[in-house]
Amino acid sequence: MKKTLLFVGYGSMAKAIACGIASSDLKTKYVIEIAGRDPKKAQNFIRENHLENIATIHSNNSLINVNEKIVMLCVKPYALGNFQYQGNASSVYSVMAGVDIATLKEHIHSNHYAKVMPNVGARYQKSSTAVCVQGDIKEEASEILSSFGKAVFVDSEALVDASIATGGSSPAFLALIAQALVDAGVREGIRREDALNLVRATFDGFAHLLLEQTPDEIISSITSPGGTTIEGLYVLEDKAVRGAIISACHEAVAKSKKKH
Ligand SMILES: NC(=O)c1ccc[n+]([C@@H]2O[C@H](COP(=O)([O-])OP(=O)(O)OC[C@H]3O[C@@H](n4cnc5c(N)ncnc54)[C@H](OP(=O)(O)O)[C@@H]3O)[C@@H](O)[C@H]2O)c1
Repeated sequence: MKKTLLFVGYGSMAKAIACGIASSDLKTKYVIEIAGRDPKKAQNFIRENHLENIATIHSNNSLINVNEKIVMLCVKPYALGNFQYQGNASSVYSVMAGVDIATLKEHIHSNHYAKVMPNVGARYQKSSTAVCVQGDIKEEASEILSSFGKAVFVDSEALVDASIATGGSSPAFLALIAQALVDAGVREGIRREDALNLVRATFDGFAHLLLEQTPDEIISSITSPGGTTIEGLYVLEDKAVRGAIISACHEAVAKSKKKH
């Protein structure tokens, strides 16, 4: 008997997770149900993402039957209370930034909860996802969350929020570095379009290197004594770029605590 994965919401996060499941072996284990305030949008979601063979629309758009279903809460945090949830869910997953498990419990009954922080890479099934579970669902969570990227289990909800530093906000920080490298190429005389293509290839290659090596190992492998790279590294360390990045991440995490 297939289990039902009920998505509340049909935005970009729901798309990433639903498409991850539909394109993996999990499609033989689960059926998908889509709930939300606008059935037309739910219908479009199914059509546009080619989910007709695996997904249906939840029949009611305000009173949601969660009984014995795995619930994926993929709406904006303020929308959680716009729905009523009926029954006892098999488990509840929330990707809503800043919403804790205690709040989820006020809305939906279940014995198993997971607070999940994916990132923008989910669009390409390459999310960096931190997750904290309450209850015996580690295996299930690993299976579902791995369908759209890398899932890392952390020990507390606070550490899920802390992953804003390592995943949530960090693509923007890396984009700033990418932008600077393009400008650096232009400054040295490379056409902007060529510089962008070269930097894109650098990030692509770097992502592969980082899967096999630590950052320390990558630095050592391209920093020869008296060479070019150590000159650049000296300038970055002299200008405390490492400390600036750590501080930027710390402020981003701190802001999430102030907002909620
Ligand atoms: N995108 C990311 O990279 C990312 C990363 C980490 C966490 N998250 C979290 O994921 C959740 C969804 O984000 P998203 O990127 O998927 O956003 P999105 O694409 O804008 O989708 C938002 C969803 O929330 C629904 N919604 C908004 N206001 C509503 C309301 N007042 N009542 C009922 N439903 C409402 C929307 O339905 P309508 O179209 O009908 O308004 C839509 O289904 C958010 O809580 C966000 O914190 C996202």
